[in-house]
Amino acid sequence: MRKRILILLPVVLLTMLGCLAGKAERAPRTDPGPVPGVQELKPASELALLMRVMAVHADSVKVALNKGAKKLPPYPKAIAALLTATPTDGMHIDPITFPTFSKDYQAKVDALYNAARNDRRTAYNALVQSCANCHGTHCPGPLMRIKKMYLKDEE
Ligand code: HEC
Repeated sequence: MRKRILILLPVVLLTMLGCLAGKAERAPRTDPGPVPGVQELKPASELALLMRVMAVHADSVKVALNKGAKKLPPYPKAIAALLTATPTDGMHIDPITFPTFSKDYQAKVDALYNAARNDRRTAYNALVQSCANCHGTHCPGPLMRIKKMYLKDEE
C-alpha cells in the first residue's frame, strides 16, 4: 500500500505541474502511459525551473496590469538562458522550432517592456500567445494553464 502511494505520488505531481498534464485524459485506454520510475524522482530540469520563473513573471505582469500599476515587475533576466537551459531527460526539443519560439518569446518580453503604458495589455497577451505557440508543439501539459493567463480586453 505504502509502496503504491510512493510510486503514484510523482505521477500525480507531474500530471499537475508538467508536460503530462491534460495528456492523461486524451491518451487512449490501450496506451500504458509513462512508466513511473527513477526519472520522475529527479529534481526539475534547468528548463523546467526556468519555465516556472517565466510563468510566475507573466502572472505578476497580469496582476500589475489589472491593478493599473505604473511599473512592470522587474525584467526577467533569467530568460537569456532559454535556448541553452537543459531540458528534462528524454524531452524532445525540436532543433528548429524550439529556438524560433524561444526567440519569439524573448522578443515579446522585450516588446512588453518597450511598449507605451496603454499598449501593455496587448503586449502582454502577445507574450502569453508566444508561450502557447511553443507549447502547441512542445510539452502540451501547461496549455490549459496558459490559456487562462490572457487578459480580457474589457476588464
Ligand atoms: C520555446 C518554447 C517554450 C516557450 C516559449 C515556453 N515554454 Fe513552457 N515549456 C517548454 C518546454 C520544452 C517545457 C518542458 C521543460 C522540461 O521539462 O525540461 C516547458 C515546461 C513548462 C511548464 C512546466 C514546468 C515544470 O514545472 O515542469 C510550465 C508551467 C510552462 N512551461 C509554462 C510556460 C509559460 C507560462 C510560458 C510563457 C510565459 C512558457 N511556458 C513558454 C517550452 C516552452
